[in-house]
Amino acid sequence: MQLQVAPSILSADFAELGKDIRMLNACADLIHLDIMDGTFVPNISFGFPVVEAVSKIATIPMDAHLMVVHPERWVKRCAELGVSMMSFHQEAALEDSEAILADIRANGMKAGLVINPDIPVERLFPYIGKADFFLIMSVFAGFGGQKFIPESVRKVAALKAELERRGNDAPIEVDGGVNAENAALLRDAGASILVAGSSVFKAENPAEAVSLLQNPR
Ligand code: DX5
Ligand code: ZN
Repeated sequence: MQLQVAPSILSADFAELGKDIRMLNACADLIHLDIMDGTFVPNISFGFPVVEAVSKIATIPMDAHLMVVHPERWVKRCAELGVSMMSFHQEAALEDSEAILADIRANGMKAGLVINPDIPVERLFPYIGKADFFLIMSVFAGFGGQKFIPESVRKVAALKAELERRGNDAPIEVDGGVNAENAALLRDAGASILVAGSSVFKAENPAEAVSLLQNPR
């Protein structure tokens, strides 16, 4: 099966965002929205006005990755803006993750839990059955254009094995430094959604870069 590719608009040209979204509509599976607050991560990206603008043009589902403290405050807002998938980092939340996942689902979105590279993959296991997808960061959340951490492949494989053992088919998403060189390894380890910022937007032909990630060799 073909992988789903979620280009991160963090690497898009914000002065030409509409053009970039239309390009993604035609070639990608999801639009990855990196929302950063400058507190949970040492960077500020964009917020809901931008998500709203994207929602007006996007014809493919929006995948919001919240890198903000207290992400549970924004569940309703994401749902109202038409976000399809919403993920958050457990350590950023004040509320219990299980309750937040349930709230995301109750608001009609797919609920995802994210782990940074320094968090053991086993931390996700209690949420199997409670999350609709899992996001494994292959760089530390905060910036686009960082180098892929190879150890992430082992985490994907370990999560996939546990999901299979428990008869759960929740997709595994991988985010950070993903490119045509590591995509096949990630697929073979069990990933089914690849986030890609710079490897798509810095490519000469972004649509072709997406296609290479969907069917890596
Ligand atoms: C990092 C973000 C990523 C990032 C990916 O905090 O979560 O989604 O934009 O960008 P690349 O593919 O350039 O690593
Ligand atoms: Zn992201």
